[in-house]
Amino acid sequence: MNNRHHEPAKQDQASSGDNFSRGGFILAAIGSAVGLGNLWKFPYITGMYGGAAFFLLFIICLLLVGLPILLGELVIGRGGRGSAASSLVRLSGKKAWGGFGVISIAGSFFILSFYGVVAGWAMHYMILSFSGELFSNSDFAGQFAGFNASWLPVLWQFVAMFLTAFVIYKGVSSGIEKFNKIFLPALVVLLVLLMIRALTMDGAAEGVSFFLRPDFSKLTGESVLVALGHAFFSLSLGMGTMITYGAYVDKRQSLGTATLAIGGGDLLYALMAGLIIFPITFSFGIEPGQGPSLVFIALPAAFEAMPAGWLFGGLFFMMLTFAALTSTVSLLEVPVAYIQEKLGWGRKLTTVVVGTLCFLIGVPSALSIGQYDWLTFGGKAFFDWMDFIASNIILPVGGFIVTIFVGYVWQQAGEEAGLTAAWFKLWIFMVRYVAPVLVLAVFLYTSGLLELFY
Ligand code: PHE
Repeated sequence: MNNRHHEPAKQDQASSGDNFSRGGFILAAIGSAVGLGNLWKFPYITGMYGGAAFFLLFIICLLLVGLPILLGELVIGRGGRGSAASSLVRLSGKKAWGGFGVISIAGSFFILSFYGVVAGWAMHYMILSFSGELFSNSDFAGQFAGFNASWLPVLWQFVAMFLTAFVIYKGVSSGIEKFNKIFLPALVVLLVLLMIRALTMDGAAEGVSFFLRPDFSKLTGESVLVALGHAFFSLSLGMGTMITYGAYVDKRQSLGTATLAIGGGDLLYALMAGLIIFPITFSFGIEPGQGPSLVFIALPAAFEAMPAGWLFGGLFFMMLTFAALTSTVSLLEVPVAYIQEKLGWGRKLTTVVVGTLCFLIGVPSALSIGQYDWLTFGGKAFFDWMDFIASNIILPVGGFIVTIFVGYVWQQAGEEAGLTAAWFKLWIFMVRYVAPVLVLAVFLYTSGLLELFY
């Protein structure tokens, strides 16, 4: 075990003693990974890219690229015991690595901008469904459009950011850890309930087979790259979330085991989400490949048609809300930890300032989906730009930097990881050769740079 990094550094806020307990860390990290990525994005892209074969690709990407980088981030955080910027500086002894802070701040602001909006939609739909108001008219596309043309999404985005900031304000162990300890188990209960409901519907089998029986003729080159990009987003990689959480982890905790638990947890939630959405869509003859509106426009039609649909609909959107908030919390902690350290502010002040900024950046996202078409640039709404830039540029660049840092720059990464010799060999091989090459390929493709060459 390498103890060189134990001595407390002066500006080191992250090791101020407010750390995760062992189980609390695993729960919080799973809470970060499991989110709208699993329950909103994963089903609709799986629907778009052909079902089971895509799911298999996603699993392969998780294993080859996701898990090695995930372990890399956790190791950097625990070794450096600082924010996503100072950890790299401390471990490399070079100030230039602090540039990662820019990526992490940008990543969290960009993702929170649209993510907080979708979290807000989920809360609004939860209430609409429980109250039955959602079913007072069957034009669900019209309802969604009407809602987005109003100021309500801004209000709900505020509520989402307010709740997120409240948790961060309370700190690591009595905020983040406590919150995840309540809501992650609640999420499992809701998921299992909904899964049983979905799987016992007439016609569920067809949905299950779409999701689990691969048809490889449906795979295209693009689906490979989409699956890889989603592995990043889904595991919260590439912007320092796991570095930041890693800084609050006990030295005795096995990070290898944690990596498997987080990866397994993320996969399990994606599996359950698929086993809810596809049986429902197939039972009701809904087209599963219709994109981001799948959950907010198509599913209400299914809830309307099933007995006690208001209850299952409400529970579904409640689940979406919980999953979203355990992720927004991890997104906000990244800039809060960074700015606290950088400016020497306290957690409370930093949270209020950064939380307010994040809310403000979310306002154009919320409005751009409605009637404010002046917020659309080059055919893409502000909301979609935030998602596009974060998921396709910031995260791959950040992930690539992490592989270079643990693979080539920081020589003691292996000691901090504490793996057995065989696992270490495998990890270093993946992080040096496999992950960076694949990430580079995705980056060139998704950023459109590849098109320049042919
Ligand atoms: N992993 C989260 C999800 O799947 C999203 C996320 C991305 C959270 C990046 C933190 C950092 O919804």
